[in-house]
This record gives sequence, C-alpha cells and structure tokens, in this order.
Amino acid sequence: MSFAFQAQGSLPNCALMIAASGKSFRIKVMYSVSNQINIQHGDARLSFDGDPASSLLDQLLANKAPVSYSCRRGDCGQCGVKLLEGEAAALDKGRPLWQMGSLLTCNAVACSPLSLRIPYIPELEGIRVLRSPAKVQGLELLGSDVMQLTLRLPPANRIAFLPGQFVRLTNSEGTLRSYSLSAGPQPDGMLRMHIRRVEKGAFSDWLFARAVIGDLLQLEGPQGHFFQRENRSVDRSVFLATGTGIAPVYAILAAASEKQRAALGEVWVYWGNRFRKDAYLAEQLADLSLQRGMRLTLVFSREEDTGHVQDHMRRDHAALDGAQVFACGNPAMIEGARTQALAAGLGEDFFYSDSFTAS
Ligand code: FES
Repeated sequence: MSFAFQAQGSLPNCALMIAASGKSFRIKVMYSVSNQINIQHGDARLSFDGDPASSLLDQLLANKAPVSYSCRRGDCGQCGVKLLEGEAAALDKGRPLWQMGSLLTCNAVACSPLSLRIPYIPELEGIRVLRSPAKVQGLELLGSDVMQLTLRLPPANRIAFLPGQFVRLTNSEGTLRSYSLSAGPQPDGMLRMHIRRVEKGAFSDWLFARAVIGDLLQLEGPQGHFFQRENRSVDRSVFLATGTGIAPVYAILAAASEKQRAALGEVWVYWGNRFRKDAYLAEQLADLSLQRGMRLTLVFSREEDTGHVQDHMRRDHAALDGAQVFACGNPAMIEGARTQALAAGLGEDFFYSDSFTAS
C-alpha cells in the first residue's frame, strides 16, 4: 500500500495529514526541525534558531529577550506576545495557548518560522531583573489568613521597580511563587508583600507555619506590566481587585506623586472579598481614599451578596471611553471585567491586568 504525505507543520504537536486510499486521517508525529524565531521589541530586533524541544518562553529567556512571566502554566497571561507571522502549537493540550489575543509562550512551540512582538513599554527601560538572596525581616498578620512578608536585600543588591510589579520568590524548601509588592520603593529598601494562606498551598503553609525572621529566600524580579503609565493622562481610572490583588493597587495609589495622581483623573476603587472579615486592608484603604480623593467600594460576594467588582464597574460606568481600567485578582474577574470594559468603549490598550490563581 502506498501513502501520500502532506505536511501541515514540521514540529512536535503540529499536525501531519496522511492520505491513504482516498481517505485521510490525522496523526501526531514527533520529530525535530529547528525554525527561525524573529522577535520585535520596540526598535530592537532579535533572531535565533528555535529549539523544538523547549517552550518559546524558555527560548526567549535563554536569548535574553525582555519577556515577563509568572505561573508557567498558561494561567496568568504574563508571558503573552503578539504572533505576527507563523504557526504555533500548545505543548500541553490541556492548557491554554492564547489569552486575550496574545500567544502564551510558556505553553507554545513553533510549528513554522515565527515572527513575534513583545510588548514594548518605555517605563521598563532601565528596569533590570535582579536575582538575589533576600532575608525575612518581618512577618506580620494583617488578618486571620493574610501575612505581610517583609524582605531585605543585601546592601550591594538594589532593586528598581515600579509600584504594581511583582517578584518571584523561592523559599528554603524549593517552592516558587510570585507575589506583588504592596508598596512602592521604600527609603529603607524593604520589600513587602501580602500573602494569603491557601489550603494545601506549599508556600503559604511554609510562611504561616515554619518561616522565621532571618530565613533566606531567593528573589527574582521585578516582573509584570501592572503599573501606571508615565505619559498617560485620563479622565477616570477604575481599579478592580479581588483578595490580595488589592496589594499592587494599593502600591500604585499610595506611591503616586501629585502629578501621577492628577494623571489618573477620577479614581474609583472596587475591592471584592467573599466575606467582610477577609477585607484585611479596609481601614488603610479608607484612609488612603480620603487622602487621595478616591471613591472606594467594598464588595462581599458571599456574606452580603453585593455581587462582583466587575458588576459594580458596569453599574457605575456605562461609558469608559477616555478611561483606563486596572484589574488584579482571579482570572474570571479579569476576563469578565475586560469584556465589560471593552463593551463600554474602553480602548484595548487602556486595560491593565495582573491575573493570579491562589496556589
Ligand atoms: S507565565 Fe505563561 S501564562 Fe503565566
């Protein structure tokens, strides 16, 4: 029997069609062909031969491309790039390859030569990812299940970051997680983050049960695009957060200079928790709202059934053209908020998000 082969792709997970006796069927083949990967980042260009055995994210990092990442599971969307040309496939078919129109490089392999564009954000010029040990300097309970972790870097290791960004931490047990910084750069150089205890969460179990002052962690960062843009002045800024997603929102609003505060226009903050007892930062947020002239709405989805933060945004803001929206929290909230905001006229580039799943 003879077979006619028609290749539709050339790499693992790309499909190959085989036609036999007038019938065709699809099989998956595993063989390795290197494809050229071309990267655009602002005016910079980068090309390298792709490695068919590893994810695009790993290849971008190995080639020092300025790509952000966090979960490596297709959840957070941080590693997203624009696919300009070519074809990519998912490494793990059970996880997403796309999020909000961007290719998730942590779960992508090239099926052909690729042209990719990494988002260029001028504010990140001069921000370099630091890898450094960090010592536990403070452990403070902010609520029944939220801990403020304070870290100190060695004096020689200074970190530059923008309020709203996050860092990756690896504890002494080898568990790695990403956490947003809850304050802007401090005169004493301390780094603070809010960490909620998660059932069977390896990092939070360690933090609440075994971490002590003086413990050493490994820090990598900053990462992420969730921060105020320098030259963007709008009529209105809407901030949505669920749970500890309020930490980077608080950092942005507390650290804003007078000029940055003015550029935000009217500020509306919606913070969602399941129960009132979970709103561990309510007093500080109320104080900040008074100081900075913001409107604050606390939302409790279980206790008082006041709905979800994105529902409140829709109720209060029928039109969002000329505004910007920042959303940090669970992926469902972010997806819902984005859909509603775009439907209300928000420009696509005026939606900033930081999605995380408690783990
Ligand atoms: S790092 Fe790729 S989706 Fe999170």
